[in-house]
Amino acid sequence: MTASILKLKGKKFYIENVLVEDISNKFDTPSYVYSKKIILDNYLNFQNQFKEMDHLICFAVKSNPNIAILNLLAKNGAGFDIVSGGELQRVLAAKGDPKKIVFSGVGKSLEDIELAIKYDILTFNVESEPELHRIHNAAKKLKKRARISIRVNPDVDPKTHPYISTGLKENKFGVDEKNAISLYKIAKKLDSIDIQGIDCHIGSQITELKPFKDSIKKLLTLVNYLKSIDISIEHIDIGGGIGIQYDKEKPPNISEYAKSVKKILKGTGLKIIFEPGRVLIGNAGILLTTVEFIKNGTEKNFVVVDAAMNDLMRPSLYSAFHKIVNLSESPSRRKKYDIVGPICETGDFLGKNRTLSVEEKNLLAILDVGAYGMSMSSNYNTRPKVSEILVDKDKFFIIRKKDTFADLINGEQLLP
Ligand code: LLP
Repeated sequence: MTASILKLKGKKFYIENVLVEDISNKFDTPSYVYSKKIILDNYLNFQNQFKEMDHLICFAVKSNPNIAILNLLAKNGAGFDIVSGGELQRVLAAKGDPKKIVFSGVGKSLEDIELAIKYDILTFNVESEPELHRIHNAAKKLKKRARISIRVNPDVDPKTHPYISTGLKENKFGVDEKNAISLYKIAKKLDSIDIQGIDCHIGSQITELKPFKDSIKKLLTLVNYLKSIDISIEHIDIGGGIGIQYDKEKPPNISEYAKSVKKILKGTGLKIIFEPGRVLIGNAGILLTTVEFIKNGTEKNFVVVDAAMNDLMRPSLYSAFHKIVNLSESPSRRKKYDIVGPICETGDFLGKNRTLSVEEKNLLAILDVGAYGMSMSSNYNTRPKVSEILVDKDKFFIIRKKDTFADLINGEQLLP
């Protein structure tokens, strides 16, 4: 079970020691609100589970790239998993250590590769032969060396939503075991490349241990084979992907995950790298939203709120479930509603068939949106991206201001 961010004291909801209404009174809704304590607890708990082993937790920046959050993790020793030059620059802006960065992704641009080489990142997780050559040529041109790991696609079914499964043969990610061996052989001959590690990431929101165990074992077999042909591997990056409980799922907790990973990797001498995102931050964030209208229909009743699919894509994109809680007191009768936003699309919903007692102006919280919430938001319908607030004990701080109209049209121009 993950920690619950909202605490009910009397009839009022708190995050840490802050009354949630105080936040919504000070800053507009919609807004994302995070608990510093929950983020740190998640991170330190993860770290603690592996304390006897050489390891590095590289937070998946894409899950929540706010620089205040990256800074918080960096200050506690975290590394970062990035997928773009933009994410690299965020880590630098957050005072993260480039030597603790792993760079993943199937389509790394030359520009991004060069930037990463200049900052001497820990490793590139290479996903194809042309990418390996691109990295090598870039390093040569810059008169530097680049460290690489090959991302192996272990063909393991992570049993998650098809859009976020990445470790199956038919997915675009990584290379199969046979190709991985030939890539290592090629890499060994490239004079500006240093072989550093082996990598995999099989998918996200994984709720069973078996897919993790199967893929680590496959990688280990490969490491042993590579050793036999005189290619030595320093680290094994086992990716992210640990699921959290949104509804009734029963994902393994970090200690169960750690136990099985350690069982396989203890004594191998390999440093372990992790790329978790969701499990560190998912449950640490909520989206606050205010009810605009209650719209009762003959077929369905709707609660129209001021947040929409542009603020939180997960329900529209993956039919993802997020709990929705009414933080205001409402005397009205409980009814079944769809919670929808103001965007002109039927797919603009945040929750379906939720039984709530609710009325206009009530403050609602959409839970477990710390990961892939704000990071996937957009300006669709010319809606501003919202503010983000971090609660720390009895204080709260704005860590991102809501877009202004000027932000929204920044860079656009009229024809001359
Ligand atoms: N490493 C790599 C190479 C990844 O592609 C990802 C996520 C992670 C690590 C972190 O995975 P996590 O520990 O957060 O599961 N937008 C989707 C999730 C997409 C995940 C993409 N890759 C969602 O909202 O569920």
